[in-house]
Amino acid sequence: MVILTMAAICFAWNLPSLNAQAPAPAGPPTPPPTAENMKGKTAAQFYKKIEVLKDIPATEIHPAMEYIILALGVGCPYCHTLGKFDVDDKREKHVARSMIAMTMALNATAFDGKREITCYTCHRGAAKGAPTLVFSGEKSPTEPTAAEIFPALAVRNITNLDPGMSPSKAPATVVSGPAAPAKPAAAPAAPLPAAEEVFTKYAQALGGNAAIGKITSLVHKGTVEMLVPAPPAPQGTPPVPPAMGTVPAEFDRKIPGKQLVSIEFPGRPANVVGFDGTIGWHGTPLREDTGGELGLLKEIAEFPPASKFRDDHTKVQVDAMEKIDGHDAYRVVGLRPDGSAVDRLYFDAQTGLLLRSYTTMQSVLGAFPEETNFDDYRDVNGVKIPYTIRLVSAEGNRTYKWAQVDANAPVEDSKFTKPLPPPPPPAPRPAD
Ligand code: HEC
Ligand code: HEC
Repeated sequence: MVILTMAAICFAWNLPSLNAQAPAPAGPPTPPPTAENMKGKTAAQFYKKIEVLKDIPATEIHPAMEYIILALGVGCPYCHTLGKFDVDDKREKHVARSMIAMTMALNATAFDGKREITCYTCHRGAAKGAPTLVFSGEKSPTEPTAAEIFPALAVRNITNLDPGMSPSKAPATVVSGPAAPAKPAAAPAAPLPAAEEVFTKYAQALGGNAAIGKITSLVHKGTVEMLVPAPPAPQGTPPVPPAMGTVPAEFDRKIPGKQLVSIEFPGRPANVVGFDGTIGWHGTPLREDTGGELGLLKEIAEFPPASKFRDDHTKVQVDAMEKIDGHDAYRVVGLRPDGSAVDRLYFDAQTGLLLRSYTTMQSVLGAFPEETNFDDYRDVNGVKIPYTIRLVSAEGNRTYKWAQVDANAPVEDSKFTKPLPPPPPPAPRPAD
């Protein structure tokens, strides 16, 4: 479950103005969105202008927003004036609010209260829900919607969503389609090992628990190949879109549980994501991770990767054999204790090493996957460390290649601590 942060690290690279302080709206200022400040509060109690997501924990707002931008393929400014998130000054924010209400109503009525319909179900990464099927690799055509062509037919007001619509309420006499043909008997599969065996073999393959226990810190230095934002464009010139490139990257761990990823983009301050064991944070712009995002950070801070999977999941078992990049791999699955998702690990059946970890960032509105592939394991102080890490994520793939990994060098705790916020701009002087 390593290095998922590395995916989340630059959500905001194209939003340099996110730091800009807009004039504060009326009412008492919202305290900074730290996990501590949000403790025990609902979204409506903590934030200022929440109308549909009122009763969810305040910590769930940010993950929901991160989910929306991926599901719709937009940035925060699509719906918000940056710095004034509580103001309803954009049409898109109004539409999004009704969309959230609609999505929740559909799930509540037609799907037995399960989260089956999400923004992504219709939007598939595009801002406009597609009324027409789109072939993969093609963009959704911009065509008028049914409501525009047949205004009179558009349903204006649905007040009577009938809970009787849900599949579980269907009478037993209703059959859905012809019965599926009987499956041909599969060839008997080779017996799968117990999960216990797979994790024991993994620890041995890494170098054994004694050697692992002697690692107190790791400093990885090298590069990452990814979509790189162009240096900030000079005033008045059109912005240059990000392009694939290779830039310097560093990944530090202090065991147990502290970690930091830092990427250098040309002409910009280092893009940093840190976790001090409790608080997870993004550096540019400075903000804390909460909810599902914080959950991801906790997972990736595990060393060795996925070593606590059995403590963090229930029903852990080897459920299949799969090919991963040409290797036979045992697939281990486990349910998160809150029942929110099933995570998967893939271990090389020959070497015993972890090849892939698959997890998801869960939010109240939906989820997105994160896949981490581990390769090129090399010996560092008697422990095998992956020198190549390939991340497959909704925000674009990236490949870290470490040139050097140093074990047990002294690393200051302060490195992992959330930096202090920039000082507020000086108060305007009262007119005299
Ligand atoms: C597609 C539209 C959309 C996008 C994109 C979007 N939001 Fe929101 N955001 C909303 C809506 C709608 C609400 C209000 C939800 C409600 O009323 O329950 C909201 C509420 C918020 C709030 C609460 C403000 C307050 O004090 O009431 C914050 C903070 C926020 N969004 C941050 C973000 C951030 C950060 C991003 C980018 C990662 C983002 N949003 C992207 C639609 C959007
Ligand atoms: C059942 C399908 C469906 C679901 C689910 C859905 N949408 Fe939509 N959405 C659409 C369609 C279709 C349109 C385009 C309507 C139009 O063009 O007038 C749209 C339009 C929008 C727009 C306006 C785009 C624009 O530029 O006019 C926003 C914003 C939006 N959706 C946000 C969301 C969010 C956020 C969610 C999840 C909470 C969501 N939608 C879930 C179908 C859906």
